[in-house]
Amino acid sequence: MRKSLKSLLLRASKWLPLRIIPLDGILRQSQRVSSAVASCIFLRDWKLEVLGRPQFFKHQIDLSRWPSQPSRWSFTARGVYAREDMFDGCKVLDLCCGDGSYSFLFFSDIAGTIDAVDRDRHALAYARRQFAAPNISYHEIDIVNEPLPSADYDFVIWNAAICYFGEQEIRQIMKKLIAAGKTGMKFCGMLPKANSWVDHKTEFRDRAAVDGFLRQYFGTVAVREVTEGSAVSFYFQASAPFKHAVSIISGVPE
Ligand SMILES: C[S@@+](CC[C@H](N)C(=O)[O-])C[C@H]1O[C@@H](n2cnc3c(N)ncnc32)[C@H](O)[C@@H]1O
Repeated sequence: MRKSLKSLLLRASKWLPLRIIPLDGILRQSQRVSSAVASCIFLRDWKLEVLGRPQFFKHQIDLSRWPSQPSRWSFTARGVYAREDMFDGCKVLDLCCGDGSYSFLFFSDIAGTIDAVDRDRHALAYARRQFAAPNISYHEIDIVNEPLPSADYDFVIWNAAICYFGEQEIRQIMKKLIAAGKTGMKFCGMLPKANSWVDHKTEFRDRAAVDGFLRQYFGTVAVREVTEGSAVSFYFQASAPFKHAVSIISGVPE
């Protein structure tokens, strides 16, 4: 059936004016429209703050502007680094998932199940609309005060969110996420270098501070420092959690 359809299309293509339909030009124009709409959304949400100060970024804006703004590549890094070691059928916990784009665009093709968690119901409504997949479950959970949705995770991802919590809260969350991970779990994520953003409660001034913080909880830690235009980000990957130590750990370094 497939073969005969293919040969029919091949024969038809000899007679149809496929060469003169300007598909590449149409794609370019549609990208321009999409980039302009993305700019309007950015203006409405981040400059005019029509819906209040946003707590999460709609990465559709990056996706739509990337073809005309190559410097936007950096939004992909936290997805690529976090999935580096993922394997077919793995179980993923995406903490503070925001718009759900990372779970969908970077993890859903390889993970068996993904629990994507956020406390912001507007973010979750957006994520369910834009980035639904059969293997992603979106959960409305406050990760400080409520239990995590499941256990035995292979990967726990915490992207662009650690800074939004105070030191005591971070300690509580670390304890929970280590308890929810398998012994062989990997903990991956990204955070910006200290930039005094108004909503940040905890910031890390250099790579050594991130490394030192994670070494309280994990035996193996790697932290990359990446310059992204005017911003600097830290990407971490940690494994071999100290399961027994989570109850006695203290101190998030400056
Ligand atoms: C800057 S966004 C990061 C979103 C996404 N991980 C990304 O990389 O684009 C921070 C997210 O943390 C969520 N958040 C803040 N406090 C939370 C809490 N106590 N429990 C769950 N989510 C929380 C916010 O709602 C927001 O969506």
